[in-house]
Amino acid sequence: MKGLILAGGHGTRLRPLTHTGPKQLIPLANKPNILYCLEDLRDAGITDIGVILGDILPEKVRELLGDGSAYGVRLTYVVQGFPAGIAHAILCAESFLGDEPFCVYLGDNVLKGGIREMVREFEEHAYDAEVLLCHVPNPEKFGVAELDAQGNIRSLVEKPKAPKGDLALVGIYLLRKNIFPIIRGLKPSWRNELEITEALDALRKEGARLKAHTVTGWWKDTGKPEDILEANHLLLDGIEKRIEGTVEPDARIEGRVRIAPGTVVRSGSVIRGPTVIGRDCVIGPNTYVGPFTSIGDGSRLVEADIEASIVIGECVIEGTDKIVNSLIGRHTTIRSKGKGLPRGHQLVLGENSTVIL
Ligand code: TTP
Repeated sequence: MKGLILAGGHGTRLRPLTHTGPKQLIPLANKPNILYCLEDLRDAGITDIGVILGDILPEKVRELLGDGSAYGVRLTYVVQGFPAGIAHAILCAESFLGDEPFCVYLGDNVLKGGIREMVREFEEHAYDAEVLLCHVPNPEKFGVAELDAQGNIRSLVEKPKAPKGDLALVGIYLLRKNIFPIIRGLKPSWRNELEITEALDALRKEGARLKAHTVTGWWKDTGKPEDILEANHLLLDGIEKRIEGTVEPDARIEGRVRIAPGTVVRSGSVIRGPTVIGRDCVIGPNTYVGPFTSIGDGSRLVEADIEASIVIGECVIEGTDKIVNSLIGRHTTIRSKGKGLPRGHQLVLGENSTVIL
């Protein structure tokens, strides 16, 4: 079986972060989203993987992943360019995928528990297609599946006004080459995309066996800033304590905190887990890093106070009031001008920003 990770799209809901790179590279618990996808495929035994590239700085994806050997996989890049839909992206990879069954994994999805069981089921029963479903509170925003008693899919509707149930199609699909002629026959939807939901429904109408697999852990797609923070939260919830940096004697580490080599936590600082801090950071003096925070490599936090946030890396945060629920792009500087400012700034900042508070 081959894999196909989708790293295209425009990520408009994540601007300005996606002006400077694909959203699939945004780190969650200090690891780029796309690596979680790649590892799930690899851990399910899928090592021959295509990566769909879009038209927003796709070279950053190549830079990170290379030929895949560093991650124990072999990668082939397929250029989609303009995002004409998930089904379109799959069709772009037709010659790479050839006759083999394949797993499509959207590069902005994270899943607890991986895909091993789903892949095993698909291979054992030789279904025509198998899709991952998740119970969601807002099914009208997704492709929604209706199942029969055996877990076969009875209907599939994209963003229904009156959903038949709360089982949404999430971004992981196991497919075979019989999907290609169906995609070729699709017409662009109202949003001018070739829709995977329509392709799957057409496959079902031809009499193919479409199986549903329901998420047992959790699943998150990171399309919006609040989704990224929530995914970060969910992933940090599972970390173990590991201190490889230096903690000065009167700094305090509480709970499950990971600190990478080369990082110093200076006096008077408190780091409360679950939290991860990357390499070569300076934290403190007198800095508080609260739970559910990820601080990327090369950052400097001095007299700062931050909680439930992501600092992507190489940032400077100095003398600020509490920063909460914030997503801070690379090379960003946030400095306080003085006292008496309102507390609880909420920020979504792109790369190379400077904010003087
Ligand atoms: P979406 O989140 O639906 O689309 P988007 O990335 O363009 O974001 P936005 O709606 O904020 O503008 O895409 C889901 C995933 O599929 C995401 O990882 C990007 C990927 N994708 C492609 O690779 N090619 C495409 O043509 C589309 C539409 C999405």
